[in-house]
Amino acid sequence: ARVRHYRWNVNYEYKSPDCFQKLVITINGGTPGPTILAQQGDTIVVELKNSLLTENIAIHWHGIRQIGTPWSDGTEGVTQCPILPGDTFKYKFVVDRAGTFMYHGHYGMQRAAGLYGSIIVSLPSEASEPFAYDYDRNIILNDWFHKSTYEEATGLSSIPFVWIGEPQSLLINGRGRYNCSLLANPSLEACNVTNPECSPHVVTVIPGKTYRLRIGSLTALSALSFQIEGHNFTVVEADGHYVEPFVTKNLFIYSGETYSILVKANQDPSRNYWMTTNVVGREPKTPTGLAILNYYPTHFRKSPATVQTTGPFWNDTAPRVAQSLAIKALQSSIHTPPLTSDRTIVLLNTQNKIDGYFRWSLNNVSFSVPHTPYLIALKEKLNLNNVFDQKPPPENYDFKNYDIYSVAKNTNATSSNGLYRLKFNSTVDVVLQNANTMTANNSETHPWHLHGHDFWVLGYGTGKFDVTKDVAKYNLVNPIMKNTVPIHPYGWTALRFQADNPGVWAFHCHIESHFYMGMGVVFESGVEKVGKLPSSIMGCGETKGFHRP
Ligand code: C2O
Ligand code: CU
Repeated sequence: ARVRHYRWNVNYEYKSPDCFQKLVITINGGTPGPTILAQQGDTIVVELKNSLLTENIAIHWHGIRQIGTPWSDGTEGVTQCPILPGDTFKYKFVVDRAGTFMYHGHYGMQRAAGLYGSIIVSLPSEASEPFAYDYDRNIILNDWFHKSTYEEATGLSSIPFVWIGEPQSLLINGRGRYNCSLLANPSLEACNVTNPECSPHVVTVIPGKTYRLRIGSLTALSALSFQIEGHNFTVVEADGHYVEPFVTKNLFIYSGETYSILVKANQDPSRNYWMTTNVVGREPKTPTGLAILNYYPTHFRKSPATVQTTGPFWNDTAPRVAQSLAIKALQSSIHTPPLTSDRTIVLLNTQNKIDGYFRWSLNNVSFSVPHTPYLIALKEKLNLNNVFDQKPPPENYDFKNYDIYSVAKNTNATSSNGLYRLKFNSTVDVVLQNANTMTANNSETHPWHLHGHDFWVLGYGTGKFDVTKDVAKYNLVNPIMKNTVPIHPYGWTALRFQADNPGVWAFHCHIESHFYMGMGVVFESGVEKVGKLPSSIMGCGETKGFHRP
C-alpha cells in the first residue's frame, strides 16, 4: 500500500460552471476539485490550506469509514473544529475498501458552493472485479443555484421564510447550461453563453469497448434521473458494493449515492449521443443537464443530432421505488446481516416550526450542531453539560396516531443536540418514516447518509411502518450495503448496521438545506476505544484550552 499525498489550496474564485458567472469555492483552481485516485489499503494525506479568508472549512470523505481515524471524518461540530482561515490542516486516513466515493465540504453550505470531488479506489493488483470492462470514467452530478449559499442560508433561517427556489441548472462534472430566458432579468451580459468553461463534459469512447461509468450525485436538493441516449446500461456497483447486475435505460440517483454502470459503445459510431440528467421528485424548473458521449473518431464538438431523452415523469414515484427494490447484493459477494438487532430507532421525518422558523425534525426534535465537537468532548471527558443536551433524543416516538398523510396539526418541534449512544458492536436498526410536509399533499424524498459505516438496506415500504407486519418482510438474504439510502414520499426505509466503528458519527438527510434545518442525528459508539486525538482538530468551543500545534 502506498501513501498518496495531496496539497490543496481552497479559495473563492469567479467561475461560470453553467455559463453564469458567480463566486464558487475551488480546490487548486477547480470545481469539482481534484479526483483522488487510490488503491485499496492506501493512505491518503490531504494537506488543506484554507485560503477563503472569511470562512472556516471542513471536508468530509463521503463513504470512507475512517476506521481508526474518526477525527478525520471532517464533520464540523461532530468530529473536528473547523479549519480557520489561513490555517493548514492535515487529513490522513486509509481507504480500506475499493469503490466509488466522494468528498465535499461539511461546514455551513460549502458543498453547494462548489467544494466537492470524487474518490476512486481500485482493487488491489491481485484482485479482479466480478464484471469486465475496458475503461473507467467518472461523472459527478450536481445541481446549481445562481444565488449564493449565504442568501440561501439567510432565507432558510428568516421569518418570513425565503426559499431560493429550484436550481438554475444541473452540472455534469462541473459543467452545465442555464436557461437564459428563465432569468428574472435576462440581460445581454447574463446571457453570454459562449464561455468555454460551460461547454458540456465529453466522454470519448472507442466503438466496441465497454466503459465503467462511475456516477455520483452531490446535489444540494434534487433527486435525479440519468440516461444515455440510445444506450442501455448495466448497474453493477452502489456506494462501493457490488450489485446483482440489472439492465436499465434510466438510473435514479439521490444526493450522496454513487453507482457504477457498464455501457457498451455499440451504437452507430458516426455520431455522438447525449447523456442527460433531469430532476425527479420535485416539479422540474431546471433544464436538462447535458454531457456528450463521443464516439471516436467523430469530432467531440459535433452536437448529437436527435432530441434529448427526457427520462421518466418527475412525479412518478413508482419506478423510483422499483429501482430501490431492484438493488440487491451481488450473489457472489453477499455479506449477510445479523438476523436480529439489539435496538431499533424509529425516526419520524417531519417538517415543523420552532418559534415561527421552518425546521425539519426527527420524532419532533430538530438537530442543531454544537460548538464543541462531540468526539473531543466525549474522548477528553470535558464537562459534557456545557457541550450538548444530555437527554438523548426520543427513539420510540409513538406515532401510531400520527397521520402521515396530512399537514401536522401540532407544528411546534423542539431543538436539541443530544445524541444516541450505541453499545459498541451492537446491531442497530433504523426505520426512517416519511410524512407529509407543511404543504398539503406533499411529501419529499430524503436521502439519508450514515458516516463511519455501511448499512444493510432491509426494506422499503409505502405508508406507515407496521412493526407487526413489516419486520417479517425484511430482506435478510441478499440486502445491498450502502451508506446513503432514500426514503420515498409517504414511505419508510429500514436499515441495519453494526456499531463497530469507535467514534461519533453523523446520520442525516443529504439535502444541504434539510440538514441545515435540523434533519440529522448523531450516533456515538465505543468512543473510549478511540486512539489519541490529534490536537489539530481542537481549539473551538470548550476545547479552547487544548493547544493547537
Ligand atoms: Cu456527504 Cu455528512 O455527508
Ligand atoms: Cu431531506
